[in-house]
Amino acid sequence: EHGAQVLVASNRGPVSYAVREDGTLDAKRGGGGLVSGLSAIGDAGGEGATLWVCSAVGEGDREAVRRGVGEPGVRMLDIDADVHADAYNGIANSVLWFVHHLLYQTPLEPSFGPEFRRQWEAYRTYNRAFAEALAEEAARGAVVVVQDYHLALVPGMLRALRPDLRIGHFSHTPWAPAEYFRMLPDDIAEELLLGMLGADRLGFLTTRWLQAFQGCCAAVLGSYEVMTYGPEEATPSVGFRTPDGRFHRTLLGVHGLGADGDFLRARSQEADVEERLADLREQIGTEPGGEARKVIMRVDRTELSKNIVRGLHAYRLLLEEHPEWHGRVVHVAFAYPSRQDLAVYRDYTAEVSLVAEEINSAYGTAGWTPVILHVKDDFARSLAAYRLADVALVNPIRDGMNLVAKEVPVVSDEGCVLVLSREAGACAELGEDALVVNPYDVVGTSAALLTALTMPAEERAERTKRLAAAGTALPPAQWFLDQVAALRS
Ligand code: G6P
Repeated sequence: EHGAQVLVASNRGPVSYAVREDGTLDAKRGGGGLVSGLSAIGDAGGEGATLWVCSAVGEGDREAVRRGVGEPGVRMLDIDADVHADAYNGIANSVLWFVHHLLYQTPLEPSFGPEFRRQWEAYRTYNRAFAEALAEEAARGAVVVVQDYHLALVPGMLRALRPDLRIGHFSHTPWAPAEYFRMLPDDIAEELLLGMLGADRLGFLTTRWLQAFQGCCAAVLGSYEVMTYGPEEATPSVGFRTPDGRFHRTLLGVHGLGADGDFLRARSQEADVEERLADLREQIGTEPGGEARKVIMRVDRTELSKNIVRGLHAYRLLLEEHPEWHGRVVHVAFAYPSRQDLAVYRDYTAEVSLVAEEINSAYGTAGWTPVILHVKDDFARSLAAYRLADVALVNPIRDGMNLVAKEVPVVSDEGCVLVLSREAGACAELGEDALVVNPYDVVGTSAALLTALTMPAEERAERTKRLAAAGTALPPAQWFLDQVAALRS
């Protein structure tokens, strides 16, 4: 049989390339749950029978495609750079990401003019390139799992080309509530949902996002005799009459991606992590009496939805109202630059640094730096911070899941209190043992930080143990294999 049996499609692939100064290519494997989960693709299809289709994202990737450099089992599409920029920066990251994370400053935005329509055309072209590549590569009856909001139109396009395939789509983001989603022009909202519903099965991280999706279908697709079923039913679904008069039913499922416990436990004990741990301890310093300072830690992409600035405000308020903590606590914040092609992300990145500096100049002393901000992405250093933190602050205004919340408890050396936003998908699984906050409430968040700092060691350790168990309940490989199995049955 010709072609791959199991295929994955995502904008960003498992490997990315950079051109070194001497002109050679440097290959970097991505980290994170998505990559480790999708790496189980090998187990799902057997040797040589799987394929990961992704897009060249930067110049290095494009150069790799041109030179024919690549990895077995990965096909990188060299989509025209301008088309990719309009689809990825213009539509995916500026419109769809904003809609699902409720990020618009609504008095002024969004404004869907001709520029948006032009970018939407590019988004279609980019989705079509994926659909065509998948149609070309898939064996008869193969399973295809399409990832995320970048590729919402792929399921419908692929079904039109290859009705024999089993097509799934998984959303790693939240899903917008219907009232917010309907800011999109009606024809675009409809095209997007019908594109997704071209799949046999759609996956979400929590029931909340699944229900929001159903709500959007009910609100937008009235003229398609849309019917939603579940989630109380065994298999929630959305049924509708297709434009050519058939009745199509798309199944929906929840797969709460967890942390990879085995990997994290082993990785966090390696030598480079130990080194970073020593460096961090030195940077943090000790109290005059020699006692270790408490550490409130956060690790994020510098991302509007992660709510880093309000987190800093909450910490500043703590220092303002509780001078007894001066010199005894440090906020270690790792904020790794992300999507810097977008001006609003560059501004946000600058704002994070500014507020951190303000706090340091207002409260810092010769021997104490209240905020230690690092912006250079370093996974080993993140793991070191996970290990030593007393408190982890995870306060997104909205987040599909948030894996940091699940990872920290696994590797924590002595237990770590999790201060967790109720708007993170992870809260559905971790809410009982975390200190849950409303991410907009700076006073409430500040109070939770104080509670966390003063929690008795024993309670902290017990909660951490339960959080680690809950956070690793569905390891990435299982998360992926479950979806493949559901699509096959
Ligand atoms: C989120 C999305 C992913 C995306 C990641 C990093 O987690 O769900 O699809 O890959 O952010 O964003 P980037 O734009 O750098 O790929």
